[in-house]
Amino acid sequence: MEKDVYILGIESSCDETACSVVKNGRVIISNIIASQADFHEEYGGVVPELASRMHVDAVYPTIEKALKEANMSLTDMDAIAVTYGPGLVGALLVGLSAAKGLSAASGVPLVGVNHLMGHICANYLCFEELEPPFLCLCVSGGNTQIVLVKDYSEFEILGRTRDDAAGEAIDKIARVIGLGYPGGPKMDKAGQGGDINAYTFAKTHMADTLDFSFSGIKTSALNTINIAKQKGEEINVQDFCASYQNHLAEILVKNTIKAVKQTGVRKICLAGGVSANSFLRNSFDIAAKNHKLELFYPKLGLCTDNGAMIASAGYFEYMRGVRHGLDLNAAPSLKFGVNNANT
Ligand code: KG4
Repeated sequence: MEKDVYILGIESSCDETACSVVKNGRVIISNIIASQADFHEEYGGVVPELASRMHVDAVYPTIEKALKEANMSLTDMDAIAVTYGPGLVGALLVGLSAAKGLSAASGVPLVGVNHLMGHICANYLCFEELEPPFLCLCVSGGNTQIVLVKDYSEFEILGRTRDDAAGEAIDKIARVIGLGYPGGPKMDKAGQGGDINAYTFAKTHMADTLDFSFSGIKTSALNTINIAKQKGEEINVQDFCASYQNHLAEILVKNTIKAVKQTGVRKICLAGGVSANSFLRNSFDIAAKNHKLELFYPKLGLCTDNGAMIASAGYFEYMRGVRHGLDLNAAPSLKFGVNNANT
């Protein structure tokens, strides 16, 4: 029998300090998340310098808790995986420096992980039987991409947003209608039971491409809000949120189905913070049934940033021989999916 491989995963790219121990890339042994969301709420968004400082406070206690909960020590780990990009540079540097320090002190190998690969790997933690190839719609605060996952560490980007990410389009409108930060989960809740046909928004026409564009849709939502204000009319927040999220979901589903037809790949995964959205999940449930596709999405706690997805990605990178030296630097604009996760 092959030896089990344990990876410590460290994540600090935005506003969660997270650490996890994962066995063989699939089984979560411990998963600790210290979220700063409540702290940033009063500023209406993440304040990068404050995020970095809070990561400094939280990073070692979070790592200690993850090891303690797993009942393991650092030297039981086969590798330390850490997000080195993309993300906020100051925030990334905290997790990365902590990981490098631990690696230098213990001799446990260091494996740098692309955050976006991590989001995709959250699905492996939820579905033991899931194997590539599959199509993955990655939707988060900073990214919207349709990725062909050819193998565990081999990716091809088939479509991407040309302007805003879907998460940005949700967060911005949530803020304007007064829901505050973090906008995504608040808008999701506010739209429950609302009429999805009550409001209409701009449609973007981009034939012959799997790319997205959300900025025009966002502007049309802002116009609707401003026109109502000028006329002294009230926006029905519940209906507005339901219509807006359903509109975004339909666009995301439409291009993903186009990708299915183009590639012939009939297995789809969702990944990233916005994959927690109930309107999106519901639209994909319906599409998967209509088109007879296999559909996977991570459980709610693993859609947003966490250390387990980084440990899972770290496992697949470790197994194909990836090791990083202590010169590994933060890469805030790290690209994804050119040849493999790290190019
Ligand atoms: O993946 P993530 O945690 O961080 C990035 O890597 O960007 O995604 C954060 C994004 C934010 O835009 C947040 O509003 C959104 O995910 N989000 C949601 C929901 N939960 C989180 N958006 C819509 N509905 C949700 N339930």
